[in-house]
Amino acid sequence: MNGIAQPWWKSAVIYQVYPRSFMDANGDGMGDLPGVISKLDYLAGLGIDAIWLSPVFRSPQDDNGYDVSDYQDIDPLFGTLEDMDRLIAEAKKRGIRIILDMVLNHSSDEHRWFIEAKKSRDNPYHDFYVWRDGEAGTPPNDMPASFGGPAWEWVPELKQYYFHQYSVKQPDLNWENPAMRQELYKILHWWAARGVGGFRLDVVDHFGKDPDQKIRVAGPRLHEYIRELSREALQGAELVTVGEAWSATTDSAKLYSNPDGSELSMVFQFEHIKLDRVPGRENRELMPLPFLQFKEVLSRWQTELYEKGWNSLFWENHDLPRCVSRWGDDGEYRETCAKMLAILLFGMQGTPYIYQGQELGMTNVDYALDDYRDIGALNHIREMRAEGYSEAEILHSLHTVSRDNARTPMQWSTEENAGFTKGKPWLRVNPNYRTINAEAQVNDPDSVYACYRALISLRKKYPVFADGRYALLLPEHKELFAYTRTNAEEELLVVCNFYGHTLQNPLDAETSDMRLLISDYPDCRETLRPYEARIYYRTRTGRK
Ligand code: NOJ
Repeated sequence: MNGIAQPWWKSAVIYQVYPRSFMDANGDGMGDLPGVISKLDYLAGLGIDAIWLSPVFRSPQDDNGYDVSDYQDIDPLFGTLEDMDRLIAEAKKRGIRIILDMVLNHSSDEHRWFIEAKKSRDNPYHDFYVWRDGEAGTPPNDMPASFGGPAWEWVPELKQYYFHQYSVKQPDLNWENPAMRQELYKILHWWAARGVGGFRLDVVDHFGKDPDQKIRVAGPRLHEYIRELSREALQGAELVTVGEAWSATTDSAKLYSNPDGSELSMVFQFEHIKLDRVPGRENRELMPLPFLQFKEVLSRWQTELYEKGWNSLFWENHDLPRCVSRWGDDGEYRETCAKMLAILLFGMQGTPYIYQGQELGMTNVDYALDDYRDIGALNHIREMRAEGYSEAEILHSLHTVSRDNARTPMQWSTEENAGFTKGKPWLRVNPNYRTINAEAQVNDPDSVYACYRALISLRKKYPVFADGRYALLLPEHKELFAYTRTNAEEELLVVCNFYGHTLQNPLDAETSDMRLLISDYPDCRETLRPYEARIYYRTRTGRK
């Protein structure tokens, strides 16, 4: 890489832990920090460099912790500050950094700032939130909140509305207020001093909202705010920062992830994730993935950000359905399909993220209506009922898109509750844990887990994974996703059959002088079998 030292996160693999569903150490049915500590060896064995921990701060848990009432304390559900210090230290011993999930667009309505803010219009904290005058029953405008209902909530004592883009218990913080921003920076410094390795910034593109113009994302002052945050709170330490930005385009991503370090390390962009959403029914159903567009979108991000920004690579997180169920096959070819998706992702340029259980090929879950716990799912059920949908239709929708698909407890073993808890799990375990679990996979060289582990070690061994220039092959091929990665010395060829039937391999001749680095089938044939995926390698000097 031009001999210039690259930041550690450019060759890192990050693993997302959703703490309430990862591992329960105290038997209350809820995952916790001691549980995460008990699984650090498992994660070190996989080879990851950092853990992104979904929020564990004090919170009334209206949105599973994305409603923070104290950014400088741990919710008793998950443990204590001492547990967090121990997690940071134990992870460090294993070469793993801890990335905290900072929810800085909004707080909980139980945060002391909001409690103060509601006391009077001249309270010093009043302006920490977004208020507008009005009259009961006539909100300032018709903006909706993400979890249903209007984005404005009336406070009769103040004769004012406050703005909330998410639930009514998640009032938006007022980023126009410099004093508020300074308080947030202090919090980031405080955590950096405790030894965390970085931050994921929840809905970063909402910081610059302008409700008077009905602007939720990518507001006019957004990048000014992020640059200030970067300058005042993130410099000096080797922190990684990743912003969640559903609205990101390749152009805005070049700002967000500017290599000059003026903003963040990278953003989660969702252009590929939005492709199978049905317009107007975004949270209700999915359509078959428009595959050619999928290739075009991912390839455009690869090419446009080359040397001008940095990609984060992901298929899953705690808000999305499981990728094998969503895009592939969670039945007969589940394992091969999970490996193909892993190979496709890990061959690209950027920092790969693995969401807990993805490394096992975990699937969506067939819950009954009363198994759902997510605030989004509960609203979804209420809304669809009100619109006259049948129970079967509602279930079908939730089985496809619900966030609880990804939030089912981690499947550790065949023990009761998948070895996740000795108590009653807060969310029902997916019954397929009897066949899909970590215990069965860790020592099996053919498992999905083993495939992820191998991919991680390949990325560490060959620099071309981090710095090679990307080129899409066969853009019009309707079933094959193939690309090369090339730097001055090395070349990779990634070939993935994205579908469940056998294909001729149009790239067979290209590979005659290449070495196979990894594949999801035990042998190589001329054809590409269902979900077959391979990465080939050669040095450009001709050595294999
Ligand atoms: C994005 C988070 O990933 C999601 O889980 C949460 O509900 C919203 N932001 C609101 O914080």
